[in-house]
Amino acid sequence: MDMNQPAPPNALDENAHGWIGKDLDRVDGRLKATGTAPYAYEVKEAGPAAYGWIVEATIGKGRVREVDTGEAERMPGVLLVLTHRNAPQQAGFTLEAQDRFSRPWPELDDDEVAYYGEPVAFVVAEMLEQARAAALAVRVTYEPAEAAFDLHAQLDALEKPDDEGKPDSALGDFDTAFAAADVRIDATYTTPFHIHAQMEPHAALAWWEDERLVVHCSTQMLESAQRRVAATLQLPLEKVRMVSRYIGGGFGGKLPVWSDVVLSALAARELQRPVKTAMTRQQMFHLTSHRTATIQRLRLGAGRDGVLQAIGHEAYSHSARFDDFFETAANQTRSLYAAPHRMTRHRVARLDLPLADSCRAPGEAVGMLALECAMDELAHALGLDPVELRLRNEPKEDPEKHVPYSTRQLVQCLREGARRFGWDRRNPQPGAVREGRWRIGLGMCATTRSNMLREGKCHVRLDESGTLHARMAMTDIGTGTYTVLTQIAAEMLGLPPERVRIALGDSDFPPTPGSGGSFGAATSGSALYDACEKLRAKLAHSAGIDPAQARFGDGRITGGGKTATLAVLARDGGVEADGEIEPGEMAQKYSHQAYGAQFAEVAVDGDSGEVRLRRLLGVFAAGRILNPKTARSQVLGGMVWGVGNALHEEAVLDTRHGFFANHDLAEYHVAAHADIPEIEVVFLPEIDDKANPLKIKGIGELGICGAGAAVANAIFNATGVRVRDYPITLDKIL
Ligand code: MOS
Repeated sequence: MDMNQPAPPNALDENAHGWIGKDLDRVDGRLKATGTAPYAYEVKEAGPAAYGWIVEATIGKGRVREVDTGEAERMPGVLLVLTHRNAPQQAGFTLEAQDRFSRPWPELDDDEVAYYGEPVAFVVAEMLEQARAAALAVRVTYEPAEAAFDLHAQLDALEKPDDEGKPDSALGDFDTAFAAADVRIDATYTTPFHIHAQMEPHAALAWWEDERLVVHCSTQMLESAQRRVAATLQLPLEKVRMVSRYIGGGFGGKLPVWSDVVLSALAARELQRPVKTAMTRQQMFHLTSHRTATIQRLRLGAGRDGVLQAIGHEAYSHSARFDDFFETAANQTRSLYAAPHRMTRHRVARLDLPLADSCRAPGEAVGMLALECAMDELAHALGLDPVELRLRNEPKEDPEKHVPYSTRQLVQCLREGARRFGWDRRNPQPGAVREGRWRIGLGMCATTRSNMLREGKCHVRLDESGTLHARMAMTDIGTGTYTVLTQIAAEMLGLPPERVRIALGDSDFPPTPGSGGSFGAATSGSALYDACEKLRAKLAHSAGIDPAQARFGDGRITGGGKTATLAVLARDGGVEADGEIEPGEMAQKYSHQAYGAQFAEVAVDGDSGEVRLRRLLGVFAAGRILNPKTARSQVLGGMVWGVGNALHEEAVLDTRHGFFANHDLAEYHVAAHADIPEIEVVFLPEIDDKANPLKIKGIGELGICGAGAAVANAIFNATGVRVRDYPITLDKIL
């Protein structure tokens, strides 16, 4: 089915069995909690594997002059040392591909070093310790080259990204309207490099079955992974099988597959035995992607009534020199608030750094740190309450696309959040509220994240015992996909969850785009919904029941005075159906976002500048909520990360050598338990029939979008100090 029309009323709306919206425990929870849900590195089915270890370049740019592998090759247990001199032939990197994660990505294909950490050798040994020791014995000398690592030093050399990425937008006459506005804010914000810090490091286990490659790895998207590996190794697509059944977090860092996958596959073919490779935490900082640092200039011009006349958002970041990805930090500013005169612009520096790519909520996560702080600055300059300022700039339609919103409850989120948080107790005078040494402040922000649907397929089969089996090449990256898909199928067929088996994580299953961009549940769930609809029709037909009258429940189908047992209908080898979803015209006819409002209370030590978060509340409207428990966890994780963006997270680039100095979790600080108080999450009732047949919106990335600005605005309210350089560490407050 395709979304060319709003979704009609359906069985999920009716929810006769109550599985939709139920806080079902994770169906894989027991496996996870007992350590029996194997990650790729722990998969046993290929037998004992040899261990790979990646040797990283120790310069930021240049070429390998000499590489001496002699000592490493003579060390105990060493099976293979690959360098650019003996690496097998692979396809060259190119920007031309179906999508950026499908591009060929060869390893050790030449002597060039394009970024710090790029693999320059790969060691395989019988034992992990042997591989690591031999990796240390590989001697590499380099010829360094001139390089550019520092965005701030390249501001005269910024480039406009390819127009296909829609880097600019303009409406009306921004410059004139801004100059004429009664009240103006012109402020520049900076955000640092962020890394994904997934719990499970990237890892791959590869082996060959005859001429077919099998790779278990930790990836969010199996279809593009399969295309990348096939293209790189110059194999037909069907000769590559990618498997990723359990994944310990993705957050965008596992949208593509990396050197662990390709090097393990190459070595497994050379050695004719399974090879597995895990990245260390330190290696992940350079061998995978990161979120770019940004510089963002916000210009807001309003009348004394608080009505915006001009909105300008310019975002500067970088692309890796060989790549074209850029952080779309100004995109949400195109649709969030009304104003007749508007301008957004993205510019990039080309830097000799590892690949910059998506990190949870690419665009909004850091774009909202700037926009929502600027809105707070404007409210202060106007002497207007920040909630009221946002209410006065609520658009009637998407102000740049000129189409209606599919659903938008930002106003309701703001009002409900303000009520629950006790916002009316906020003293608008900064620095006015004290408790001993502590200065107390309240802050808030709006939240928005784009909502997407992609193309996906699903196969279902009802077996002779009356159990439903669904399969698709979707992933569960820790979000609860297995669980919400179980609920959809249980509701559609009137089966208890124990009678539903969802199989994911295998490129041999029907294609889906996987987990990313918060489109995972909607896409895979809609394909499953469609498959279940078709299965219901088949079952009704074979029971002689009009499908429109058919009711499913207790393992039976009933209607028109007839009844039949599902297991009986499936007795001759089962009943099967295929489902699919395509985005269709609804994607263009409506503006699709999820919304929220977040409220923070902080205490700032007047002597040391130490910030303690006291309360955080998020009220969200994001379509139908399939499972309040997993949904809350998703949004909660995003909010915690938002607090980290405000107060802790920063990968510090050594701009002389192009590497991240604090490349481990001891020095790259993420929010820890002691940093996080009780967080309250509220979902408002919402049904979005323009989004997908499930009428849901994506929620994985929603919580992070703006949360940090609520904290920053609370710090201003507490202290009167406006820090525009994230993270807001105590030295910047004093
Ligand atoms: Mo996401 S940053 O597309 O996991």
